[in-house]
Order: sequence, then structure tokens, then C-alpha cells
Amino acid sequence: MIIGVPKEIMPGERRVSAIPETVAKMTGSGAQVLVQKGAGEGAFYQDEEYVKAGAEIVADAAEVFKRAEVILKVKEPQFNKELNLHEIDMMRGGQYLITFIHPAAPANHQMVKDMAAKGITGLTLDGVPRITRAQNMDALTSMSTCAGYKGILLAANHLAKFIPMIGSAVGAIKPINAFIIGVGVGGLQALATVKRLGAVTYAADIRPDAAEQAMSLGAKVVDLGVPADQSVGQGGYARMLTPEWLEKEREAIKETVAKSDILFLSALVPNMEAPILVTEDMVKSMKPGSVIIDISIDQGGNCAVTPPGTTEVVHGVTICGVKNIPGMLPTSSTWMFAQNIYNLLNYLTKDGKIVLDRNDDIVKGILTTVGGDIVHEGAKVAINSR
Ligand code: NAI
Repeated sequence: MIIGVPKEIMPGERRVSAIPETVAKMTGSGAQVLVQKGAGEGAFYQDEEYVKAGAEIVADAAEVFKRAEVILKVKEPQFNKELNLHEIDMMRGGQYLITFIHPAAPANHQMVKDMAAKGITGLTLDGVPRITRAQNMDALTSMSTCAGYKGILLAANHLAKFIPMIGSAVGAIKPINAFIIGVGVGGLQALATVKRLGAVTYAADIRPDAAEQAMSLGAKVVDLGVPADQSVGQGGYARMLTPEWLEKEREAIKETVAKSDILFLSALVPNMEAPILVTEDMVKSMKPGSVIIDISIDQGGNCAVTPPGTTEVVHGVTICGVKNIPGMLPTSSTWMFAQNIYNLLNYLTKDGKIVLDRNDDIVKGILTTVGGDIVHEGAKVAINSR
């Protein structure tokens, strides 16, 4: 098997899909690994270390895409401005792509259609189910841990205030209010981080278990009033609420949103477009200088006016829709990511070839495009609803 590791091209992205330690495991089991020159530099992994692990360094991205049978990437395929070519255009039918595709996100619909049209077999890391045997392949959990931690540090940097209570000779400064909506992996990490920084914390989640965990971390839980039979589905995952329940949720969170200095949005139903929980009017109700970090932007965002991929001031509120927050923590996030993607690749490989058992839950979760078709359920629903 020939495995290709291109350099990531999303602006600010410093992660890479393989590290010398995982390359050594791949070459050790007989694979040939092509690493684009300088691919690991942003995360402090040097070309010489990849060579020692048995990789071949290739100067040009187009050559990596051309020669490899399996492409390992961190972010969804992008337009390569240097080569004036989309990464999809450098791929061919029958080739495998393993990365975060986020196929349900509206911004990615065309790209997913193009992948299918080319006959690329696309496997998305955000579809790895949260089951025990898939834990060491779950890159979303790893990256959400990074995004929760680093996302709060970004908010702290944008904020024009102290986070904790500060006593001074001229008087005491009150701690800020931080509100986390969606306290799954990313949200809980954000909650723990902002709590350590000294904020007064609020949290909301439609799953009673998640709300309970937030409470045990010291947050005041905002009651959404959603009955568990509406909010919890198969395997304990959250369910997409009906439009009526989403409207009730927006009413329930409105007051806490208005008084939040930091609003951290991480509500997601796996493999679906993210629910819009914060409307433009709710943004207007916030104090000028407040900060929203919307990490669900990969699936479209939880706030109606989050700018995809960037940070903007909207109605006096700084809204961050950066899609690669873990890329700002490159050494830790790359180490975790590279282990996850290697474990997944190894799981799919039988006798030196990728074999997709379409009855297997992990394969069912990740398979996005194959044989010219889009097969990812969430993507099909999202694309057909537009
Ligand atoms: P998760 O599945 O662990 O947590 C999502 C939580 O949202 C769950 O607890 C669920 O119950 C809750 N939820 C669902 N619908 C809700 C609603 N209507 N109201 C309130 N809560 C609701 O997901 P995880 O791993 O924490 O990921 C969260 C998001 O972060 C995802 O969109 C993921 O793609 C994104 N992410 C973004 C990164 C970035 O750089 N922007 C990096 C890593 C992850």
C-alpha cells in the first residue's frame, strides 16, 4: 500500500496526519509512505525524522496525491492556491481519502458531490462511532478536547476583561460569566478550562447525563425543559430536536446568553448539521465586547451569524468561527490525531490492502462516498434538505 501524507493547506493549520512514530509502524508493516516536504514542520516534526522512520520525502503536493493509493489528511480537501488546483482535482477514482470531511456541513456539500463524481472513496473521521472498540480511532474526541481547551484561551485573549475576580486597591472587579452550550467532549473541556480561569460558569445540554457532568464541574445548569425521550436517541447520543423544541430551547437560554461575556457553542448531534441555537437578535442582546466561540462551525455552527473559518466583530460581539482551533496547539493535537488515524487505517487494513466491510459499524459510520455515490446518511439528509 502506498500512503500519502500531504502538507495541510488551510490557513493557520499546523497539524499533520502522520508523525515519525506512526510512519515507522506503517513502513514496518510493509507500506510505502510518501511525506510532502516540510509537512510536519508546523508541529515540530522534521523531514529527517520521517526519513529515519522509512518515509520518502516528496517535494510536491501534486506528486503525493498522484502516487499514493491512500491519502491521510487532517482537514477536508481545500483549494490549493499555490497550485491553483483543488485537492480533489489532484485525486482519482478508486483512491482512498481518510480525513475530517464534515460531509453534512453546507459549506462542504459541493466538495462531497465532487468527491463522489470522481469515484473517490471518502472516509470521514467525524463518523467514527463513540463505541468502546473505536475509542483509540476517535479523532473527533481528541480534537474536541483540544478545541475546548484552546477555544477558551482564544476567548480569553479576545476579551477586554479579566476572567477571575480581581481584588485591587481601587476596588474589586467581578468575575465574568461564561456560558457553555453543548457539554459533550469539547464543551466539558471548555467548562473545566474557563472554571480554572475563575469565571462564573453556566451550562446547557439536552442530554440529562451531560447536564449532570457539567453540574459536577461546578456550572449552574440552565434548564432547557426538553424531555429525555425527545433528546436522547440510540446509543445514548443526542437527537436532533424538532423545530418547536429548538424554539423553546432558544427561549430558555436567551436570558443567560444576554448576560454572558464568553459564550462557547459546542452543541452537535453526530453526523448532522449543527442546530442554530443563537439567533442574530440574541447576539444583539449581548454586551459589546463579549466573545462567542462557535466550535460547531465545522457542521455549520450553532450561531446564525458565525463567520465560517474566521473571526469577526458582529453587533459589537467578537464571533470566532475558526475551524482548526486544534491546529493552534499543534504538537499535542498532532500527536493525538496521528495515533487515531493510524489506528483506524490499521483496523481497515487486511493483508496490506484496505478492505471495507459494509456491515461493520465503524465502516458504516465513516464511509462518505464510494463507487460514485454519496452514502453518508447525515450528508444525504443535509444535501436533500437544501
Ligand atoms: P459531542 O457529541 O461530544 O458533544 C456535543 C454535545 O451537544 C452533546 O453533549 C449533545 O447532547 C449536545 N447537544 C446536541 N444538541 C443540542 C442542543 N440542541 N442543545 C444543547 N446541547 C445539544 O461533540 P464534541 O466532540 O464535543 O464536538 C462538538 C463540536 O466541536 C463538533 O461540532 C465538532 O466538529 C467541533 N470541533 C471543532 C473544532 C474546531 O477547531 N472548530 C475542533 C474539534 C471539534
